[in-house]
Amino acid sequence: MSYSNEMKSVAKTMVQGFRGLLAADESSPTLSKRFDALGLESTYESRRAWREMLFSTPNLSSWISGVILFDETFRQQASSGVTFPEYLAKIGILAGIKVDTGAKPMAGRPSETITEGLDGLSARMAEYRALGATFAKWRAVIKIEQQTLPSRAAILANAHALARYARICQSEGIVPIVEPEVLMDGDHSIERSFEVTSEVLQSVFSELWLQEVALDEMVLKPSMVISGKGASLRASREEVAELSVQCYRNHVPGSVAGIALLSGGQRDSEATQHLALMNRGKSLPWPITFSYGRALQDAALESWATQKYDVQAAQGHLAERAAANFRAAQGQD
Ligand code: 13P
Repeated sequence: MSYSNEMKSVAKTMVQGFRGLLAADESSPTLSKRFDALGLESTYESRRAWREMLFSTPNLSSWISGVILFDETFRQQASSGVTFPEYLAKIGILAGIKVDTGAKPMAGRPSETITEGLDGLSARMAEYRALGATFAKWRAVIKIEQQTLPSRAAILANAHALARYARICQSEGIVPIVEPEVLMDGDHSIERSFEVTSEVLQSVFSELWLQEVALDEMVLKPSMVISGKGASLRASREEVAELSVQCYRNHVPGSVAGIALLSGGQRDSEATQHLALMNRGKSLPWPITFSYGRALQDAALESWATQKYDVQAAQGHLAERAAANFRAAQGQD
């Protein structure tokens, strides 16, 4: 059976109409770290309650087309007794699943990582589809260090794994989000970020082509071209938007369903402005929207801690960021 038409339609729904994705797929250890930093206890139930608060934000589907879930949340239930994928489907939001098992130190190159999770992936994917997943995510992580990293070996191994994952997704009727993240950590210049992101995207699309991945049935989730966090002279927001779009134009085929950016540790307002500038006054071959994690959730999480689980207060923060990014996807402030 071919799932092609269904996947094209899901991919379009994910990125068109200026809505974007909420990346709420932090693994339990990662979410625990975020909770710990704010003095929140991390348990199976406290993580569930936090996610239920996010997903039940009034009008969320006006700005958010899909939510990426971690396995734990995917199998949990909302208070009404339905599973989260069922809950999201009812309110007009697609449910997605993070299927990689994490970026692990690469053999022989321990300062770089290779993302794992391909073994048994077809069977896992079929199960997720039966439980309501329409799309999936796999994140590859590329680190920049002076002129020495990333190595060609790390770029190629990660590009290959991303393409194998994407092909498996499409065989199982699930739209892949292909996420090659070039980290902002370090003191590198925006020019170096441009050079590395270019090489990474070029390698990823070459591998996707080899694996015969249908580009109109996938979404690309790239990092922005941006100065390292520790750089003494950080490029302006206009330069980030300009060079990011230039890099994507050079390396992302026009048939890709859309680009949904990650925020990668930028401040929430900064991530929103970058998105607005990328969309302002330009005619682009694909929609550019957001698939933010921290840039959508940070303010809500802080409020969740300081206002002691006040649902309305935290939802207000998520709604504000989601609506701001929805406007930014239209090029507006
Ligand atoms: P950030 O927007 O916080 O980078 O998270 C997006 C994501 O899904 C990382 O894999």
